Amino acid sequence: MIFRMAKPPLSMKPTGWFQVAWSDEIKIGDVHRMTYFGTEMVAWRAESGQLTVMDAYCEHLGAHLGHGGHVEGEVIQCPFHGWQWNHEGRNVCIPYQDRPNRGRRIRTYPTVDRNESVYIWHDIERREPYFDAPDVFASFGDGSSAADYYPQQRLYRETLELHPQYVLENGVDFAHFKFVHQTPIVPVFTRHDFDDDVSYVDFTITFEGDDQQNIEDVESRVEAINGGLGIAVTKSYGMIDNRTISAVTPVDDRTSDVRFMVYIGRTPGRDDERAEMKARQFGDEVIRQFTQDIHIWQHQRYSDPPALANAEQDGFTAIRQWALKFYPDGLGGSAADLQSASERGQKN
Ligand code: FES
Ligand SMILES: [Fe+2]
Repeated sequence: MIFRMAKPPLSMKPTGWFQVAWSDEIKIGDVHRMTYFGTEMVAWRAESGQLTVMDAYCEHLGAHLGHGGHVEGEVIQCPFHGWQWNHEGRNVCIPYQDRPNRGRRIRTYPTVDRNESVYIWHDIERREPYFDAPDVFASFGDGSSAADYYPQQRLYRETLELHPQYVLENGVDFAHFKFVHQTPIVPVFTRHDFDDDVSYVDFTITFEGDDQQNIEDVESRVEAINGGLGIAVTKSYGMIDNRTISAVTPVDDRTSDVRFMVYIGRTPGRDDERAEMKARQFGDEVIRQFTQDIHIWQHQRYSDPPALANAEQDGFTAIRQWALKFYPDGLGGSAADLQSASERGQKN
C-alpha cells in the first residue's frame, strides 16, 4: 500500500522566480525537457548563447519539442513538420509556405541565468516580473564574486512531497538546530525584514550553554535574502565563510524539486590542494546538514494554524503573512482567512 501525503493546503502555483535547471545543463544547441507547475516545458540555448524556456508543445499540431526538436541558429525547429519558433515563442518559418503564422505563439517564460542556475518567472496571472531573483554574491553588496570562493557544490533531490514555504520557514526556526542538526546553535536574530517581495533575515550564531559569550564577541553571522518563495541565498561570515543557495520549485500539485548549492570561501595565500580538499569536505558537510532538513520537510504536514512557543510567534507570523502575497489564487492557508477577515473588519 502506498501512503500519500495529503495535498498541501498551500497553493503549489506561487508567483516568483524558480529554478528549473543549472546553466551548464543547457549548452549551446541543447534542448532540455522538464516539468514544472504541472506544465511540460523545454529550455534551449541558441547559437548566440541566448536561453529560452517555453511550453513544450508545438502550436501547429502539438508535437513535443523536447522529443526531437533541435536548435537551428537562433530558433528551435519542430521535429514533426519543421516549423521554426524564436526566442519569443513566435513562429518564424513554415518550410512549405512563403509566410509564417504570425498569430500563434508558444508561451515563453521570463528567464535569467544567475548563480549558475536557470530561473524562470512563474505567475498564473502572467504579470511581468516585479522583483529580481537574488544573486548569491552581488545582492550582498560587498564586492564579492565567485573568484573568492571554491567551485559550487550541489545537491539535487527530485519530486519530494514538500512545499517551498516549508524551506523558507527554516529561516526563522531557531529551535530546530539542536534537534535536526545536533549542533548547540542558538541564533539570535538581528534583522527580520518582511516588508517587501524580497525579504531579509540576519542572525548571529551563539552557542548554548556558553553564558560568558557576549554577542559582540561572536563573529559568526548569517545574512539571508529570500527572493520570493522559490530562491533563498545566504552569506555566512566570521568564523565560517560560505554562501548557499536553496531553490525549491513545484513540479505539480504535490511535489517539488529541491536544489541546494554551497560555495566555500578561499583563504588568501592558502590555495594549495590541501586547502581545496578541506573546502570540499566542508561543503559536503553543509550539504549533509541540508539533507537533514529535507528529511523533515519531505514528511512534514503543514500545520495551520501552528502551535507556537512564545519566542516563535513573531518570526513565524511575519514569514507566513509575507508568504501570502505570492499566492494570487488565495490558497495561503488560514493566514489568508485571518487577513481577509481583518480586511473585512477594516472596511466596516
Ligand atoms: S507539430 Fe510542430 S511543425 Fe507540425
Ligand atoms: Fe536547518
